[in-house]
Amino acid sequence: VATKEIGTVQRTIETAPGETLDLTLSSNLETGDASILMVEDDPGDRRLLRRILEQEGHNLIDAEHAGEAKRLLKSSPVDMVLIDINLPDRSGLSLLAEITSTYPDTACIMVTGEDRRELGEAALTHGAYGYIIKPFSSNELLINVSSGLRRQKLEKAHRLNEERLEHAVDTRTRDLWETNLQLAQREDQLRLANRETIERLALAAEFRDDDTARHVTRVSEYCGLLAQLLGSDREDTTQIRLASVLHDVGKIGVPDQILRKPGKLTEDERSIIETHPEMGHRILAGSQSELLRQAALIALTHHERWDGTGYPNGLSGTEIPLEGRITAVADVFDALTTDRVYRKTSTLPEALSIMHEGRGSHFDPEILDLFLSSLSEILTIREHHLG
Ligand SMILES: [Fe+2]
Ligand SMILES: [Fe+2]
Repeated sequence: VATKEIGTVQRTIETAPGETLDLTLSSNLETGDASILMVEDDPGDRRLLRRILEQEGHNLIDAEHAGEAKRLLKSSPVDMVLIDINLPDRSGLSLLAEITSTYPDTACIMVTGEDRRELGEAALTHGAYGYIIKPFSSNELLINVSSGLRRQKLEKAHRLNEERLEHAVDTRTRDLWETNLQLAQREDQLRLANRETIERLALAAEFRDDDTARHVTRVSEYCGLLAQLLGSDREDTTQIRLASVLHDVGKIGVPDQILRKPGKLTEDERSIIETHPEMGHRILAGSQSELLRQAALIALTHHERWDGTGYPNGLSGTEIPLEGRITAVADVFDALTTDRVYRKTSTLPEALSIMHEGRGSHFDPEILDLFLSSLSEILTIREHHLG
């Protein structure tokens, strides 16, 4: 059996951003005897068609009317159907339309005694590959049949290639989806582990100082809200919320008797407490994780003041990183509105008035204004995490 390459399809498909799949599909068609069904009621024409086409090596079956043709096609599909336009039971054109839609791999050629242009056009519109007018020469018939068969093979190969291509893309896409899903699950687990580690680390600092048990949680919620109000996207908001949990982690390095001392601290004791930003920074800095790097920055700068009178570095204005300025507002508000060993809580109006006094001296005025304008949300968080 001779084989002939009849077509190559090349595709580059983007399966994911930045990832492509190259597919080259070529098809080899076997040339050989075609099976041909002729639907013809005239016995003389049937004989003539059979004689010419069998001489060429084709296999012929015949039907006298459309009903028989449909029955034969159902039991064994053929490569080509030759259809007489005037059949005893229905029009050849409607049979043509039915065959082309039911058997897309079957080529149809109309055979007719009527030489009318509109009939020929109608046949082509209904999907015929050729149109032969009786009486015809054997060459005319053979040329129509061989070109029809060739076109049918090309179209079939093309369709098969398309199907293989579609299948390949489907499979590859499904694989990618599965991989992505697994990656996403792994990422979720990592994020969870990350978060839990941070919370446990914060807890280690909290355990030393019962009065601030929920302080860090509230501060981190306030910080998240402020970041959101400042226009941060969801990811950045989540990050600052998590990172600020660790703002006081440096208190791990402050002795119990100072941290838990009721009443006023001596100057020495105060200076020891004031080492906690640098201590926290030392614990957290140098991490590969952006979250921990941000946490280190927050730990270091949350006691800086807008006017430069804060500690440890006396930074002022926008020298203080944004996350430090945010945490300063959240931290002081929480300290003012919850009991501490060394100080009773202020009433809310007192706390707000102290906060307001710090506008432009202690706090970044823009952040303070945002904070005060969202008081109802702030109070909801406070209620929720008061414990
Ligand atoms: Fe602090
Ligand atoms: Fe704090």
